[in-house]
Amino acid sequence: MAGNDASAAATLGCFITFEGGEGSGKSTQIQILADRLNNTAFRTIVTREPGGSPGAEIIRHVLLSGVGKAFGSDAETLLFAAARDDHVHQVIKPALERGIWVLCDRFTDSTRVYQGKLGKVDPALITALERVTIGDLKPDLTLILDVPVAVGLRRAIKRRGKAVADRFEQESLGFHEKLRAAYQQLATDEPQRCVLIDANADADTVAARIWAVVQERLLKSDASQTVRA
Ligand code: TYD
Repeated sequence: MAGNDASAAATLGCFITFEGGEGSGKSTQIQILADRLNNTAFRTIVTREPGGSPGAEIIRHVLLSGVGKAFGSDAETLLFAAARDDHVHQVIKPALERGIWVLCDRFTDSTRVYQGKLGKVDPALITALERVTIGDLKPDLTLILDVPVAVGLRRAIKRRGKAVADRFEQESLGFHEKLRAAYQQLATDEPQRCVLIDANADADTVAARIWAVVQERLLKSDASQTVRA
C-alpha cells in the first residue's frame, strides 16, 4: 500500500509507476494495465509526469519545450519537483486515499536517473526535494520497461511523426545508453519495489509479462485483499 498510515491501509489504493527510456512502450502498457484492473473491479486512474495536474502541465510545457534547459540541471530539477508537488497533492494522494489505484507514467525514479545519474545533480538535492514533494509516499511497484536503445529510439521517431523531438529525445545515443544502464541498475538496487520488464516484444507479450508481475506482487498478497474489502 502506498503511504505508511496502518489505520488507513484498508482503504488505500495501490500506487504503480512505470519507468524506462524513450520508446520503451510505457504509455501503451499503462493503458492496457489500467483496462485490465478496471475490469477486475479496481478503480484505476492513469496519470503522468511531468504533468498530471493542471499546474504541473504548465510546468511540463516549460520543461519539454527546452526552455528550462538554459537554467541548468539544478533548476530543471527544481521545476520537475514543483510539478511533482502539485501532482502528488492534487491528484495522486487524493485518489489513493479514496481507494483508487494510481498508475503513473514516470515518477521520482525519472528524476533520480535523468537529472541525478545523467545530469549529475547532487543526490542530496534530489533526496531533499523528494522529502518535500512526496514525503513518505512510495510506489508499491515500479515497472521498468527495458528495450535496446536502437529499438526505443526507432519507436519514438515513429510515434513522433513530423513533430519536433522534445528536450530529452534530442540527447545523444550515448545519453540513452547510459539511461538504460541506470534503469537496469535501479532494478538491481531495489528489487523489493522495482521489476525490470523485457519490453523488446509485441505489446501483447509485454502486457502479459506485466500482468504476471502485478498478479504476483499485488493481487496475491494480503495487501490487495484489504483493498478489495
Ligand atoms: P514524455 O513526452 O512524457 O516522454 P516519455 O514518453 O519518454 O515518458 O517526456 C517526459 C520527459 O521528461 C522524458 O524524456 C523524461 C523526462 N523526465 C525527467 O528528465 N525527469 C523527471 O523527473 C521526469 C518525470 C521526466
